[in-house]
Amino acid sequence: MANLISDMARAVGLPRLKRAAGVVTRRLPIPQPLLMVGPGASTRLAQALADFGHRRLLVVTDAVIVKLGLLQPLTETLTAAGAAFEVFDAITADAPLPVIEAGIARYEAAGCDALLAFGGGSVMDAAKVIGLAAANGKHPRALVGYFKGLRAPPPLYAVPTTAGTGSEATVAAVISDPETHHKLVIADTRLVPRMAALDPCLMTGLPAAITAATGMDALTHAVEAYLGDWGTPYTDRMALAAVAMIYRHLPQAFADGGDLAAREQMALASTYAGLAFTRANVGNVHAIAHQLGGRYGTPHGLANAVLLAPVLHWCGHAVQPRLATLAQRAGLARPDEAVGEAELARRFVASVEQMNQRIGIPGRLAELRAEDIPALAEAACAEADANYPVPVVMSTAACESLLLGLLPAEAEATAAKRARAAKPKGAATRPRG
Ligand SMILES: [Fe+2]
Repeated sequence: MANLISDMARAVGLPRLKRAAGVVTRRLPIPQPLLMVGPGASTRLAQALADFGHRRLLVVTDAVIVKLGLLQPLTETLTAAGAAFEVFDAITADAPLPVIEAGIARYEAAGCDALLAFGGGSVMDAAKVIGLAAANGKHPRALVGYFKGLRAPPPLYAVPTTAGTGSEATVAAVISDPETHHKLVIADTRLVPRMAALDPCLMTGLPAAITAATGMDALTHAVEAYLGDWGTPYTDRMALAAVAMIYRHLPQAFADGGDLAAREQMALASTYAGLAFTRANVGNVHAIAHQLGGRYGTPHGLANAVLLAPVLHWCGHAVQPRLATLAQRAGLARPDEAVGEAELARRFVASVEQMNQRIGIPGRLAELRAEDIPALAEAACAEADANYPVPVVMSTAACESLLLGLLPAEAEATAAKRARAAKPKGAATRPRG
């Protein structure tokens, strides 16, 4: 699909194509999951599913979740209520194709007619693809792109166990092809789960580093959806609510993982951000983060967290009024304080850096190598150009400059030295765009 969009973009002009896509996206009917929220929501969902009378549910999850005993209350509820189900616990990070194929085989062999995803983003995305592929008798590769399945997937229900991806509310599934090392995106409005249970009890054992990274992924979804060109009044409300909730509750969820109220608010904020970006899309931060994930395996949320402040700083004046609103919603100005837009915008960018410091996110990326930066920047700009309604188009030179600032300190010094040696006298050391 990316290639198709690139080709079309060349033929008719990218700005016009993106405007047209924005018109469609703003009006596209996108279903929303019915939400069950609060401690015990996952078992209440299980009780409801038993009453729905499905022939057999495929419960899609991962082995760690099963080992930790997180799934047990739900399966006990299903069993007690007489619901037939099959557990498929083979999902691994980034949902690789062979695992999806095994899931499709299990779904068909067990005679299932509905799916329950119980896990993080990879689990929910895998369940979406298993359902769509099984319904259409197609290999997942044949479903890559938009609306490639003729038949609707079977009913899908979701129980997220992290607060970040928002996949319980989105139209897309991202899986990976271990042969090509490419991420494959499958999008269809019928992939949105029918119901989702946001149960904070399932999140109290999450390691602090995962709480931090997934929380910053949710913040990036909200911020990019709010700053991009495809926002609507509804996505703006969802994004602003998510930002306010994340600023209020992420530090506490990080400091005290057992705080159920903070966990619940973070789960809800993640879903709100998902509702915002599934229509308004993401932007340059995600475009760069995807390249870092592909090349180094950098966790998605961590890459977003490290990139968010530098990208916002680079956007500068173009997004100042919106950054000022984000600052107000994040509680960075007292109601009686007279603060100008520029100062509010500055406070918001600074607050992202401060949030990172508070929750243990590094300022630089240890795995980033200077020699990879040109290719990373080129791929990131191509992805953003083809897919995202960014508020400011980023040049590869600007992206390279930004990535240079994220090199480990020693590597940055060496790269700067090389650049000085290579440039004629009087030339700028680092391009800014
Ligand atoms: Fe994300």
